[in-house]
Parts: sequence; structure tokens; C-alpha cells
Amino acid sequence: MSEPTRISELPERIGQEVTVRGWVMTTRSSGKIAFAVLRDGSGYVQAVFPKAEVPDAVWETFKALTQETSVAVTGTVRADERAPSGVELTAHGLEILGPSVDFPITPKEHGTAFLFEHRHLWLRSRRQVAVMRVRHEVIQAIRDFFYDRDFYLVDTPLLTGAIGETAGNLFETEYFDLGKAYLAQTGQLYLEAAAAALGRVYCFGPTFRAEKSKTRRHLAEFWMVEPEVAWNDSDDNMRLQEDFVSYVVGRCLERRRAELEELERDVTPLESVAPPFHRISYTDAVTKLQGLGAEITWGRDLGGDDETLLAKQYDRPVFVYNYPREVKAFYMKQNPDDPRTVLNNDCLAPEGYGEIIGGSQREDDYDLLLARIREQGLPEEAYGWYLDLRKYGTFVHSGFGLGIERTVAWICGIPHIREAIAFPRQMHRLYP
Ligand code: 4AD
Ligand code: MG
Repeated sequence: MSEPTRISELPERIGQEVTVRGWVMTTRSSGKIAFAVLRDGSGYVQAVFPKAEVPDAVWETFKALTQETSVAVTGTVRADERAPSGVELTAHGLEILGPSVDFPITPKEHGTAFLFEHRHLWLRSRRQVAVMRVRHEVIQAIRDFFYDRDFYLVDTPLLTGAIGETAGNLFETEYFDLGKAYLAQTGQLYLEAAAAALGRVYCFGPTFRAEKSKTRRHLAEFWMVEPEVAWNDSDDNMRLQEDFVSYVVGRCLERRRAELEELERDVTPLESVAPPFHRISYTDAVTKLQGLGAEITWGRDLGGDDETLLAKQYDRPVFVYNYPREVKAFYMKQNPDDPRTVLNNDCLAPEGYGEIIGGSQREDDYDLLLARIREQGLPEEAYGWYLDLRKYGTFVHSGFGLGIERTVAWICGIPHIREAIAFPRQMHRLYP
């Protein structure tokens, strides 16, 4: 057996003998010539078995191949213009490594519930592989963006004592003799402390929200990237966001065309994602939405339908800024020009994907922040350390959080964010 070769490397090995290890996706045979499409994670290739040219034992082994049998196939790499990767394998050796009897996911249509119950196997399908590769690219692009701009990565704790966002959707657990701990809803508060140490920082990890909603935009566990920048105000913050989102989308267009094609994603709307994004104040957005027939009134948060309707008016993402403080988190800076509002923004993706980013300038005034903590009935003692940041050299600073699954769903053009993560956690789903 020759040295195993990954399928993605086959175009560089034309004319050579190679062995590929992978899984059988489909087989067909005319009686004189047989075909098997193989997958190994790096790509897809068709192996061709001409009956006259392969040993009888190989021909017999071929007959035992079923969907998802794992195999080693030895053959010669041939250029083939009709093949998507430009190559085929003319096989003469075949070894079954692991049989697969009655693989549950067949090429016929299956219901969504069935597919998610078999998520561990469904991941092997072409579309799911494409989504995971786009997600991989999104994450690498995020890391490159911040690394190239001299942001430091700071890992924030997942077990936390203070409530990060709202008390409404916390996962609680007993924490030794210290009472309750919460699974992190955000790394932001810790990151603000790190911003005073390192200037420009970001954290990137899983976050948890005990969301009782079953919408296509909510998971109980999702990944969020959160930058925090000393001396940035709310306008700087939005400029960073539009550069960042444009970079991430651009990277996928540049390096993941094949996957987007596999997903039948129309990339035209993605191609217009470039700075400047549209900007509209919350107050103007409410007026605009009312004009479009929405039932929103000033003072209420935008609902999913409002976001979809508003974003549809634009050809690229839109920032909605300065929301009423009553509907937003305690840490957002009060707007000095209109104290009913805060210096924040949401970034809404086009094509009905809604909010992908929540960001704000942070309240840097000790007294105003303490008043907000009290107004919202948050346990003051848990925020002593956070208030310290306003006591020892307070500073203008801003940051935001981008949800990975919503971003991946939008870039891939898939309707529900649960397909944008390998093993989604939802209210009614903990397995597999
Ligand atoms: O708007 P959120 O709640 O903001 C924060 O957590 C801030 N601490 C971020 C910051 O300023 N550092 O969440 C940010 C983003 C949302 O825009 C959305 O993309 C995503 O996180 N998100 C969710 N994604 C999936 N499922 C959920 N339940 C989500 N909740 C928020
Ligand atoms: Mg938000």
C-alpha cells in the first residue's frame, strides 16, 4: 500500500499511485465498471473500478460497500475535466476498514427532528461539512483580524459570580461553599478590566443563555467574540464593527467560494458588504417602522420581526443606535444629549438575519453606574470589582459582541442558526 494521501492533495499527484482513506458516500455499477464516491473531510473524489482491470477479489469487495463504509482505496490519479476537483481515481485496490450497516441517513428526505437526533452522523453530509468549513473560516478570520490590529486575546471565566447581561436567562449552578455561580452570558465585564491593562483586547468563547424561546436565532449555548477598546467612543465602536464584519465576510468570499456554492448561496448580497454601513437612530427607526406598518412604539425593544423589516430596507448591514436605556443592559453609557437613551448600537444583518452584534460605549461614571446597578436590582456586592474600574483611572471605552452562529447562518444563507454549530444546545435538545 502506498503512503495515504488526502483527497485535497490529489490534483498535485496526477499520474501517481496513491492510497486514499475515507468513507463511501455513494456507489453504482454497470456490471463492467463500478464507481464509488469517497469523502475524507478534505474533499470528495470518485474512484472508478473497471472490472477487466481489477482483481476479482476487489470486484467482490466492491459489492459489499454500503453508504459510510470506511475504506482504503489504492489507484492512479487521473485528470478528469468533468470531476468537480478535476481528478478521478482509477482504482485497483480496495480494503474495507469499517463496515456500515443500514446507515440511518439516506439520500432521501428526512425530517428536521430526525436529522438533529442523528446530528453525530448528519454532520458527514455535504451541506453540513460546507457549513462547518465556513464556520472555521469565520473564526480564523476573526482571530487574524484582531491579531493584525494588535488586539490581545484575554480568556474570561465561564463560571462567574456577577450577572453579565440580564437576570432573566441565567444558568445557575452550586459553587462549593460560595453559593451560586452563573454560566457566563458574556465576557465583557472582565474584558473591561483587561482593557485597562492592555488597551485593546478581545475574548472569544462559548456563552450561555437559558433562552426559553424557540426562535431560529436563539441557542442556549453560543459562541461570541467580544472586543473591548480603551478610548473608543460609540462612533469609533461602529467604525470598528463595519471594518470587522466586512473583513470576515470578505474572507469567506475569498477562501470559501466552493463551500458557498455547495450551499447554493447567492453571494451577490454578500459582495456589497463594505463600509460604511447604514446608520439610523433608534428613534428614527421607530418612526420608519411605524411608516412601514409595524406596531412598535418608542420605548420598546425592537422585536425579531421589526429587525427583519427594518434591515430589508437596506442593501448592507445597518446600525441602529441609541436605544432607550430601559430596554438595554445596565453597563451602557447614558447619552449626555438625551438621558432617556444610551450610547449603544445593534448591527442588523440583511436578508432577515436580524441582530448579529450588540455593542456600546460603557458607563464610565462611578455614580451613574452604581445608580444603574441599584435601579436594576442587581446585587451590588457582586459588582464591587467592576465599580473599581471607575474608581481607579476611569476611561472612555467601548466594545461589542458578535454572535458566531448568527453570522455563520447569514453568510451560509441557512434559515436556522442551529445548523451553524456542530452540536446545538436548545431548550429541548441536549443530545447528541
Ligand atoms: O447583544 P448581546 O446580548 O450583547 C452582549 O452580550 C454584550 N455583552 C456584548 C458586548 O458588548 N461585549 O449579545 C451579542 C450577540 C448578539 O448580537 C447575537 O449575535 C448573539 O450575541 N446572541 C446570541 N446568539 C445565539 N443565541 C442566543 N441566545 C444569543 N444571544 C445573543
Ligand atoms: Mg443584543
